[in-house]
Amino acid sequence: MATGTSATDIYLGRTGGPPGYALVHSGKVRDIYTLDGEHLLFVATDRVSAFDVVMREGIPGKGRVLSALSAFWFEKTRDVVPNHLVSTRVEDVPGLDSGWRARLRGRVQIVRRATPTPVEWVVRGYVAGSGWKDYQRTRSICGVALPVGLQHASRLETPILTPTTKEAAHDLPLTHDEARAKVGAATFDEAQRVALALYRRGTEVLEPHGILLADTKFEFGILDGRLVLIDEVLTPDSSRFWPRETWKPGENPPSYDKQILRDWLETTGWNKEPPPPALDPAVLARVAQRYLEICQRITGRLPEGVEVAR
Ligand SMILES: Nc1ncnc2c1ncn2[C@@H]1O[C@H](COP(=O)(O)OP(=O)(O)OP(=O)(O)O)[C@@H](O)[C@H]1O
Ligand SMILES: [Mg+2]
Repeated sequence: MATGTSATDIYLGRTGGPPGYALVHSGKVRDIYTLDGEHLLFVATDRVSAFDVVMREGIPGKGRVLSALSAFWFEKTRDVVPNHLVSTRVEDVPGLDSGWRARLRGRVQIVRRATPTPVEWVVRGYVAGSGWKDYQRTRSICGVALPVGLQHASRLETPILTPTTKEAAHDLPLTHDEARAKVGAATFDEAQRVALALYRRGTEVLEPHGILLADTKFEFGILDGRLVLIDEVLTPDSSRFWPRETWKPGENPPSYDKQILRDWLETTGWNKEPPPPALDPAVLARVAQRYLEICQRITGRLPEGVEVAR
């Protein structure tokens, strides 16, 4: 039995969102609307970016996978830290007709509006990405000193917090002291403790499924004077997932989700500046399949709103 989604299930969100809702922010992947004074409506689209450029085509079902994963993790980490999620039910979004309900099913999150901390709380358990570049230059990552002799993709003895700024384009590394100065000592200490505990919880859940959590980014907000987990959690968009079978220190492991797309783009001679090339439908289908696989592997089921093709 093959799993898949039909082309009509693609939602890119570019032609306007649900009627009557004011768009407050549109990221590379998600659109955020005001629901009321206390709540926001997050809609995960099927947009996909590679090399920081959003492709013109979407990956059918991708937004539903991201929503299902975040919802799964909010539930799994509730005992570690409270979070912003109120509901993922499309029926709880007021004023949608049946067409909009069908389109948005599995893509919505009603969340409590918090005041985001001006820091992205990155935790790394392995040396990868910008961390590897930083390590090669400074033998540290974001000012955290590390042992000599680590290779690309080496596992760190203890996971480390490597905070960054929140920028529209490229986030910049922060030392712990710089992050502490931005948010205050009490918030910093709490966010550090919680971020490391969340990373540990993530690895405990993922490793039995053969998935390594190389690194991941959390966002926290302040709500009623308390630290709460906001944004998305432990999704392929916020994390580097590696299949354990192909992990080998010294080599750059393929990431679980977008590697197929990146590899294909590399064959096209594209200069990585917009506009991106038109994507091959076979590649789109393979990437879609990969997202569904990740979702099933982690949550044990397909996301809400994705039909099984027979
Ligand atoms: N509960 C919340 N209350 C207020 N703001 C939130 C909440 N949860 C998330 N946010 C904010 O919403 C924004 C989500 O934006 P999103 O991640 O979709 O796009 P982006 O960060 O601009 O770009 P990218 O697509 O590269 O991530 C972030 O600024 C995040 O801090
Ligand atoms: Mg973001």
